[in-house]
Amino acid sequence: MAKEKVEIFDTTLRDGEQAAGTRLGAREKVEIARQLVRLNVDIIEAGFPASSPEDFEAVRLISENIQGPVICGLTRARKEDIDVARKALVKAKRARIHTGIGVSEVHLMGKFADEKYGKTIGEKQATILKMGVEAVKYAAEFVEQVEFYAEDSGRADRAFLYEILEAVIDAGATVLNIPDTTGYAMPEQWGGLMRDIRANVPNIDKAIISCHCHDDLGLAVANSLAGVKNGARQVEGTINGVGERAGNAAIEEVVMAIHTRRDFFDEVETGINTREFSRTSRMVADMLGTPVAANKAIVGRNAFAHSSGIHVDGFLKKRETYEIMRPETIGLAESRVVLTARTGRHGLRHRLEEMGYTLSKEELEKTYERFLAVADKKKEVFDEDLAAIISDEIHVVEHVYHLEYLHVASGTGTLPTASVKMKIKDEIKQAAACGDGPVDAAYEAIRQATGLSPKLENYSIRAVTGGKEALGEATVRITEDGRIFTGRGISTDIIEASAKAYVDAINRMVAAKEKGGKADVKAEL
Ligand code: KIV
Ligand code: ZN
Repeated sequence: MAKEKVEIFDTTLRDGEQAAGTRLGAREKVEIARQLVRLNVDIIEAGFPASSPEDFEAVRLISENIQGPVICGLTRARKEDIDVARKALVKAKRARIHTGIGVSEVHLMGKFADEKYGKTIGEKQATILKMGVEAVKYAAEFVEQVEFYAEDSGRADRAFLYEILEAVIDAGATVLNIPDTTGYAMPEQWGGLMRDIRANVPNIDKAIISCHCHDDLGLAVANSLAGVKNGARQVEGTINGVGERAGNAAIEEVVMAIHTRRDFFDEVETGINTREFSRTSRMVADMLGTPVAANKAIVGRNAFAHSSGIHVDGFLKKRETYEIMRPETIGLAESRVVLTARTGRHGLRHRLEEMGYTLSKEELEKTYERFLAVADKKKEVFDEDLAAIISDEIHVVEHVYHLEYLHVASGTGTLPTASVKMKIKDEIKQAAACGDGPVDAAYEAIRQATGLSPKLENYSIRAVTGGKEALGEATVRITEDGRIFTGRGISTDIIEASAKAYVDAINRMVAAKEKGGKADVKAEL
């Protein structure tokens, strides 16, 4: 019997990027989209174009440069959002607009509390239904595929949910996204909801049902799989499960469950190239700055590691004793080339390509110079070092502020002091300051040299790889006028990495201001 396809809708670049404290540049998004093509996802949700000029630019660039998957842009059920999305998607070979509205009572009484939407629940439902239908009809004028999301379906009144789904199918929606927006559902309930939608929406044969589950109770993957078992033929999720709050369904877990348990999911298959999971996971973790837990299913460092005596003994006698999947299936290579100061450009390019990076000649040259500097200090350069170098050298916004010189003095019983020299356009500015610690002193000196004083919200430092010469990666989050900017910096010197991260965040803040003025504030759903 021919299997039915479950389409995989990747929203790492939209819902995934909504995770607190993460922000990707347009160039980073294109790089991830290229990797998603290798993974062979069916749909890439590239962003929410009306939310900010950066999101618009990312969706535009991906539409222009990425071929294969359908490229999708999110909108609210508003004509002005749809107009922005269709412009961003204009170059896509296959474009989809993903529009929708909140349908649960909580949403109706919260977001739509204003009496202009109606006084009673019934009146509000009628308004919401009309808005949803009009948005779908309007979007269908511009793109072949319109997907409708009924936000917070998991807590919605069933009769109203069936009614709005029927109406938007008649209006031209070909995919119905049923989101468990708050991650509230239980797998049995979620499977039941899919069955009930199929039984109660009369024109459901004209649309595909999609599951979009959040992980607040750790059930996003289980709920998505229950959805598939009960008729959903599209699953939405993110790589590594990144996303709002506790995140979204992890695509690698959903797909590997369907793949590994084909005896159980015997009616369906996905088109995913599972061998790309490992490298996709690493790329997303590196670019978002959110490392994967060692024990994370499928892509965690320990997911295929056997260490206790009994397990190792059993594994060596017969792999299947303790292994239900082969590491090769997700692209974990058994052997790899070791990168050292003697590795040439060719070897470096090969390794970068294996990691999924596509660099121009100039970018490779820049990366190579930095690679040599790191290789000089360390015996071996690891993939994580390379990812950090790429993020520091290649995926940067155009910098107006450059840190030319940094000197810090600190120690027991001394007042930490820092002096900096900064190049700002063609001008050189110097400043010196004291602080509570060496990083604080460096930041104060940078504030004085730039004349800018954004609020520092968050600061973290981690060793990218092991060993005493490991690269340190600093991540800072600054805010100004309610807007968040994240900066990263790497160096074998952690104070220098910290200063670079702060300057990077300032540059992102300045670039965003220059581009978008007030409109740059990310619109909320
Ligand atoms: O979780 C959700 O409801 C969403 C929709 C906007 C699709 O992300
Ligand atoms: Zn979501």
